[in-house]
Amino acid sequence: MYKISIISSSVRRGRKSHSVARYFKKYLEEHKLATAEILDLDKYRFPLFDERLKNLKSPSPGLLDFAEKIRSADGIIIVTPEYNGGYPASIKNAIDVLYDEWHRKPVAISTVSDGNFGGSQVIISLQFILWKMRAWTVPAMFPVPNVQDAFDEEGNMSDNPAMAKRAANFINELLWCIEAKSRMDIDDIKGKTSK
Ligand SMILES: Cc1cc2nc3c(=O)[nH]c(=O)nc-3n(C[C@H](O)[C@H](O)[C@H](O)COP(=O)(O)O)c2cc1C
Repeated sequence: MYKISIISSSVRRGRKSHSVARYFKKYLEEHKLATAEILDLDKYRFPLFDERLKNLKSPSPGLLDFAEKIRSADGIIIVTPEYNGGYPASIKNAIDVLYDEWHRKPVAISTVSDGNFGGSQVIISLQFILWKMRAWTVPAMFPVPNVQDAFDEEGNMSDNPAMAKRAANFINELLWCIEAKSRMDIDDIKGKTSK
């Protein structure tokens, strides 16, 4: 079974977007689609970036744990709120501290807001930095508007068939990318490109 890590980005007091991370964990497990773990940046509480992990002399156990979970995951879901049209510093901090771990990693982004637009302005900037990190950003979106009404704290979705369908499609796209990657025959590609 595939292993998916869900990064919950908000470290804000009284945060709401964590419920979306909980929803995905339950969804993946209940449908037996993958094993899922939430990587909660509020629990990790990484210090402000001062150097990449690979250059740190004595990285914290938390950072080593986070890096290993990103490295070993078949795919990642990032749940991020939109703050002033961008992503919170916490997620940039957690992305910048790693490097090789992101390479060719399928990453799906879910954006969240308490207003009507579902944090959808974040998607471009976050996709861009992940592209810079050579991750594989999944071409799917799951914007969550009015998060306070859409999910309860435990991650249960309010009755909303349209949103449930969008969530299923979002997960399917991520699983498709994970499966496609797992089927890649690297030697075959090498043969083709060397001709
Ligand atoms: C500093 C800050 C900036 C925000 N900027 C935006 C914004 O640009 N667009 C938006 O739709 N919501 C914005 N919001 C509202 C958030 O979408 C809302 O607070 C949401 O619950 C944030 O996720 P969180 O509760 O998990 O931190 C902002 C909230 C904060 C705290």
